[in-house]
Amino acid sequence: MRKKQQQEIRQLLSSRAHSSRDLIAGLNVSQPTLSRLINSMQNEIVVMGKGRSTCYGLPRDIHDKPGRFPVYMIDPRGDARLYGHLTALQGNQYWWEETEGNGELFNNLPWFLLDLQLSGFGARSFAYRRSELLKLPRKQSDWSEEDMLYATSKCGEDRIGNLLIGEDSLARYFELAREMPAAIELESRKWKYPQLAQKTLAGEMDSAQIGGEQPKFAVCVDDQDAPCHMIIKFSPAVESNEAQRYADLLVCEHLALEAVRLSGFSAARSRLVIAGNQAFLGLKRFDRRGALGRLPMISLRALHARLQAPCDNWIDAAIRLEQAELISPADARKLRWLSLFSDLIANTNQHFGNISLIPHHGDSYLLAPGYGVRPTLYEPIAGEIPVRLFTPPSIRNEVAADLPSALDAAILFWKSAAVDERISSEFRQICYENCELLKLRADGPKLII
Ligand SMILES: Nc1ncnc2c1ncn2[C@@H]1O[C@H](COP(=O)(O)OP(=O)(O)OP(=O)(O)O)[C@@H](O)[C@H]1O
Ligand SMILES: [Mg+2]
Repeated sequence: MRKKQQQEIRQLLSSRAHSSRDLIAGLNVSQPTLSRLINSMQNEIVVMGKGRSTCYGLPRDIHDKPGRFPVYMIDPRGDARLYGHLTALQGNQYWWEETEGNGELFNNLPWFLLDLQLSGFGARSFAYRRSELLKLPRKQSDWSEEDMLYATSKCGEDRIGNLLIGEDSLARYFELAREMPAAIELESRKWKYPQLAQKTLAGEMDSAQIGGEQPKFAVCVDDQDAPCHMIIKFSPAVESNEAQRYADLLVCEHLALEAVRLSGFSAARSRLVIAGNQAFLGLKRFDRRGALGRLPMISLRALHARLQAPCDNWIDAAIRLEQAELISPADARKLRWLSLFSDLIANTNQHFGNISLIPHHGDSYLLAPGYGVRPTLYEPIAGEIPVRLFTPPSIRNEVAADLPSALDAAILFWKSAAVDERISSEFRQICYENCELLKLRADGPKLII
């Protein structure tokens, strides 16, 4: 009888975790009988929570190993602290136990760990270097959520933010910290960056373990005797129209970040290095401090997974987060402003990975400095540079108050790009025309609020 009931429990828990009440009803037994049964299966069942809210689940193996992982937080000094434990359960669920706090059952990978999954260029180059070693599908696009978690728990020592999953990643973090190469001197960037770009493309070195489609690597540079972690995006070294356009767009990203800052909003500090045909855009990381310290950050996408809200557009996201008191009215304005500014500089890349937040007091967030803003409308496609017409989208009434400042900043951006000799004359002409287009708009009728 007991064996049959144990089998019934396994059957019920194989699809998802259940409360005692569910199991009592499902098995048609009394509470004491259920307690005895659970006791007899304590080696194979995960008991979650206490008292009336106790739930039971069956653990899930990840790549033939128990799917229970410690999660560590690297603090601003570079020390690691245990943040909690993640247990994968049958039915694709996860049980999260915070070291100082309660547990929580998730139906998917917990939202605060989503950004540790790789995507874009970083994911492709990670897969190229590691898929054979980790016995994972060769192409990262074929990886399942379990593959991604497994890879992150094995080699996730240098992801964005301050979290890492798994003992193996922690061991690699300490190794990385011990063997960190000397910071790159400012003067040597012109010849070191092209070498590092070449190695990154050849798959000979770990590129940045971060998302985004643009090729990039991560370095620590010597900034007036202080170590400074940077992400370096780079254009192709070959001489071609396509390579030139990528270089033009990196110069534009540098100018756009400057225009954001001049309007009184924070944006990643950037430095541009031109070496031959190649442009290198260095972005100072706001999730790193000193040589080893790390700071938390979370993408707007992950925060929306927490809210179970759609990743629709930055303006609605700003309204949503302000209403939920997750960000301040000032930061909501900045997010609306960034959306407007992006529209006006032909940045078609307004996805929810391109905005990040920094955990603040209690359960609120600060908007992280802006990044990744450039006129992506003009990006080459499949080796071609299609002729693209820029028509700024119409402005929603609720952001009309922010329009004058965003328009001024966008005009400033196009104007500075139109005269920047690091940009090709062909693209400068496009920037000039866009500047004139926006000036006409600035002189046209407005909504008076
Ligand atoms: N200054 C920074 N400090 C810390 N993290 C950053 C910084 N800039 C970018 N990131 C992180 O790196 C990721 C990739 O950066 P970014 O979006 O600029 O790259 P990209 O290749 O241009 O992306 P996209 O595919 O959106 O065009 C971002 O999603 C963000 O998580
Ligand atoms: Mg991006």
